[in-house]
Amino acid sequence: MRIGVLTSGGDAPGMNAAIRSVVKAAVARGHTAVGIRNGYEGLLEGQGRELSLPDVDGLSRLGGTRLGSARSKRFPTSEGQALARQQVVALGLDALVVIGGNGSLAGAHALGTGEPGRPCQVVGLPASIDNDIGFTRLSIGVDTAVNTIVEACDRISDTAAAHRRAFVVEVMGRHCGYLAMRAGIAADADAILFGEAHLSKREILTKLEGLLARSFAPERGKLRVLVMKAENVDIPTSEVVGHLRDWVDAHVPGVSVRETILGHVVRGGSPSAVDRLISQRLAVGAVLALEQGAHDEMMAWDAGTTVGQATVDPSVRRIGLTEVLAETHAMLEGHSAATRARVELLNQAEQLLAL
Ligand code: F6P
Repeated sequence: MRIGVLTSGGDAPGMNAAIRSVVKAAVARGHTAVGIRNGYEGLLEGQGRELSLPDVDGLSRLGGTRLGSARSKRFPTSEGQALARQQVVALGLDALVVIGGNGSLAGAHALGTGEPGRPCQVVGLPASIDNDIGFTRLSIGVDTAVNTIVEACDRISDTAAAHRRAFVVEVMGRHCGYLAMRAGIAADADAILFGEAHLSKREILTKLEGLLARSFAPERGKLRVLVMKAENVDIPTSEVVGHLRDWVDAHVPGVSVRETILGHVVRGGSPSAVDRLISQRLAVGAVLALEQGAHDEMMAWDAGTTVGQATVDPSVRRIGLTEVLAETHAMLEGHSAATRARVELLNQAEQLLAL
């Protein structure tokens, strides 16, 4: 087979490890790997070239994506879909491995199932620091992002404690608060704010006022308060901090409040061992699944479901993109069991965090 591979959407640490393993597994099994630059945008321009083993040596430890990525506006249009099909044929691809998040997997599904029939077999690998993809316990990049956040918060805690300060730290997660939830617990946050809790502005501010009053009271004597806030909380971080500044001035003299928005810092960096491992096992699973005729599927990590098909790797499961995209939608809408379990766990944890 000629197996194309592309990375699409927001980059995630581990994408390079996945590219490397697609190429290595392809070569080992007698296939040809074709790297496509800049995601679907590069596919539309026919930017593919064969990749050999020396091309991917040393790639696993690098952050970002060597193939480049893009959020293509043209690809979802009907003209874009037609052109993408032509380019798949022109590049002679029998199969395409799409490494990316929700939007990229939706693109893979559209390309693989739209009219007039599939241009090649299409398989997705979940890669997004947000962990907002259904039926995969972890997506490529999440573990590294969590570690980066925890390290940043440890540093912030040093300086915060030196000055008796509260910090509100905002982390990425446009539609999903998972990064804040997981990193918040690991970083000993005193409170975690995430959109899935659906708190009003007033509820959030009242909760934080109470937290600061209790934490900095002489009988508790905390030196630092860390509030982890997900990007998907409606109220801007600057507004939360502005309000808390005024509030502490009036109620907790000697304490100050600062904000840090970690932003894209969290997306970069060398992938963790866990991310390298997940990337490699999903990628090898994809090549083996393609040999077995896999199409319009995602390789999932510890899927926690009986949907789809087991593979020889006990942690890797093949699941149809239709099911994955439906579950992703349910997660983001808040009515999937996975989201409810996350919120429930956080509600329980919160009582200890705030002590
Ligand atoms: O989808 C991943 C993500 O990192 C979101 O958490 C974040 O809101 C977004 O990408 C940022 O995208 P961009 O790099 O295009 O600004």
